[in-house]
Amino acid sequence: MEIFSNINNTYLNEITKKHSLDLKINKKPKYPCFEFKDEALQFSFTDKIFLKLDFLKGTINYRLQRAHHEKHLKKAIGKNKEPQLILDGTAGLLSDTLILLSLGHKVIACEQSKYIYLLISDAVRRAENQLGFLENLILVNQNSIDVYLEKENVDIVYLDPLFPHDKKQLKRSKSIYALRDILNLEKIVINDDKLFMKFNELKPKKIILKRPLKSEIIYNTPNYQVKGKSTRFDIYI
Ligand SMILES: C[S@@+](CC[C@H](N)C(=O)[O-])C[C@H]1O[C@@H](n2cnc3c(N)ncnc32)[C@H](O)[C@@H]1O
Repeated sequence: MEIFSNINNTYLNEITKKHSLDLKINKKPKYPCFEFKDEALQFSFTDKIFLKLDFLKGTINYRLQRAHHEKHLKKAIGKNKEPQLILDGTAGLLSDTLILLSLGHKVIACEQSKYIYLLISDAVRRAENQLGFLENLILVNQNSIDVYLEKENVDIVYLDPLFPHDKKQLKRSKSIYALRDILNLEKIVINDDKLFMKFNELKPKKIILKRPLKSEIIYNTPNYQVKGKSTRFDIYI
């Protein structure tokens, strides 16, 4: 994949080398591609349609400012004396991880897609001076099952899978559409419906599975559920 930029710097050289991208300086972009504009990385489908993440603005920042209002998620996590070590097995655009971090927990966020990982790690880079809780984040570009097998002491596995035919879930945000398109470009098959079962077999202490409110229970009956306006958390202990 190519990355187009009008400037060159150490950061761009580092990421292009590390992730085998092809850096093009002062060239006209050929879409789809990455672009580095105004010190930020974006994934551009055309000159007008792109995905760029900014944790310091918009809905996500608003939610972070008032994270104590996230009562459903707090209820799903439960009361604990100590901060929990949470493995977010489906990091995606990192919104859920950020809320979990802002509630004081430690998070290992796993994203299988290299392109999505690049976008979220760039957004983390731009926000880390202002969002102190990012020091409690470990971000990895790996399959979450493999990461889980390597880690000890994970208290909670958090999953928000992208189901192949879940139209309601896709309606949730335009960014999730863009995310799905990026996964398609990378030829990543969306079969996240198997992910829960794989984790369940490994018997973690607790799994929180995020689902659209009215979606059917396709796995084992959860131990309990926490229902919000449009989503619910199925909890397995
Ligand atoms: C619906 S999105 C998650 C959205 C996320 N909760 C958020 O707040 O933005 C699902 C993501 O999980 C990733 N994913 C699915 N299976 C995975 C696995 N086994 N390991 C790592 N990432 C995975 C997909 O690539 C996709 O980006």
